[in-house]
Amino acid sequence: MEVMEAIEARYSVREYSERKLDDASIRSILEAGRLAPTASNQQLNKHIMVTDEKLIHDLVDACEGQKWIATAPAVLVECASGDRTMICGQSARSMDGAIAMSYMTLEAVSLGMQFCWLGWFDPEKVKKLLNIPEDYVVIAVAPIGYPASQGHRSSKKSMEEVSAINKM
Ligand SMILES: Cc1cc2nc3c(=O)[nH]c(=O)nc-3n(C[C@H](O)[C@H](O)[C@H](O)COP(=O)(O)O)c2cc1C
Repeated sequence: MEVMEAIEARYSVREYSERKLDDASIRSILEAGRLAPTASNQQLNKHIMVTDEKLIHDLVDACEGQKWIATAPAVLVECASGDRTMICGQSARSMDGAIAMSYMTLEAVSLGMQFCWLGWFDPEKVKKLLNIPEDYVVIAVAPIGYPASQGHRSSKKSMEEVSAINKM
């Protein structure tokens, strides 16, 4: 699947089929994260693919009780150590993490899966559950798997509303 096809095929899924991810798919998704760019090429992020059923169930509580997460066969957790603010004022690690998460999730879509990006989670609970060291920040959590049924993307603003050429 071409990159644009994956972008067009993506939509947030909140109910997954029981089909598991095979080892090749897991490796391919994690490889997409490994190859993502990072600020100063520091590569301080860690991409955690959670496949253990008990851990996934426990992640429901860490994600503010979003019960549907338990239907996912896997949950991607993106974290990083040593955060710093770049000259542009943005967090290098948040940026690195968001990029890596985007690469990995798009690779998952290209393999026929879907996901849902989560911002509604308690980072301390996630860290405790997954043995993530104290000096790490948890950037994003994303249940991932094959959708239980065909869904569709939410409506998007027009190209004119969200884009500009040269000047805003
Ligand atoms: C940073 C971020 C945080 C989000 N947090 C949650 C969340 O905690 N729970 C949830 O169900 N969806 C969450 N979403 C999914 C959005 O609601 C969804 O992407 C949006 O409604 C657009 O729909 P679409 O992804 O199908 O295009 C999040 C998405 C983003 C990008």
